[in-house]
Amino acid sequence: MRNVNIFFFSGTGNTWWVSMEIARLLADQGIRADAHSIERLSAATAAQLIAGCDVVGFGYPTYGSDLPEPMQTFMDQLQNTKPKKCFVFCTQWIWSGDGARVGAELLASKGFEVCWGEHFLLPNNVCVTAVPLPFTNEREQIDRVLERASRRLTIFSEKIISGQVYRRGFHPLSQLLGSLQRLPFRSIKERMRNEIGVDAHRCTQCGYCVAICPVENLALCPSSFFARGHCIFCMRCYNFCPRSAITYRCRPHNLRRGVPYRGPVEAFDPLQLR
Ligand SMILES: Cc1cc2nc3c(=O)[nH]c(=O)nc-3n(C[C@H](O)[C@H](O)[C@H](O)COP(=O)(O)O)c2cc1C
Repeated sequence: MRNVNIFFFSGTGNTWWVSMEIARLLADQGIRADAHSIERLSAATAAQLIAGCDVVGFGYPTYGSDLPEPMQTFMDQLQNTKPKKCFVFCTQWIWSGDGARVGAELLASKGFEVCWGEHFLLPNNVCVTAVPLPFTNEREQIDRVLERASRRLTIFSEKIISGQVYRRGFHPLSQLLGSLQRLPFRSIKERMRNEIGVDAHRCTQCGYCVAICPVENLALCPSSFFARGHCIFCMRCYNFCPRSAITYRCRPHNLRRGVPYRGPVEAFDPLQLR
């Protein structure tokens, strides 16, 4: 194996970090490996990159054990390929059952040979007041999670390099448990699309949320902000707004809980994904 291209979608940086780490670990072994944000790629460029490498990687955060919509669309648009080896991984906070297998199934239907699959545990990025899940923005705790993920990353990269098939979370029981979360999540998704708004008291109309939204859901008309109703729940605008002015179900971020989660490392900048 000489050349690997990794395609990823990342809302708040976790999947970006994992993709970069895999690329680095492969490069350390003399393999040319590049990670590409799918937000910047046309279908034609993706096809060229796939044709020009020996192994392809796909990574995304799991949302309710399902694929984020940009990754679903990206995979749907892939042309059927001559059998090509690939790996699939998802990032998740705690559990998804078979989050990576869902993408693998779609890729297999396009002719990919899915040889490696993994689920990496990273910090939770859901910080909304209306769904008060625990989250951390403390450096020490985040570093501990990254250290644990790094150990898994080393094993995963070694399996890719050795060519040994390695797929975790692809068992029928994982699929059954994943679907118990996926099916209800799919049914509430449509209702969640319209839940993003802005707190006019906090908003300074800086336009940062508009610039970083991966699906152009947000817009700023001369003096008012509006959402087009096609939010994909990636948490980027909510977590990275400098004033925490984005609301979910009309509730702004509770600042007593600290700033929302803003990615695994300080070097992460959401603008670099666009
Ligand atoms: C809408 C939504 C649904 C999520 N569902 C799950 C889940 O089912 N299981 C889980 O462990 N984490 C879940 N998470 C947490 C993210 O998958 C996790 O924090 C991920 O690493 C974020 O990656 P990113 O920073 O690349 O966007 C969910 C996050 C969001 C925004």
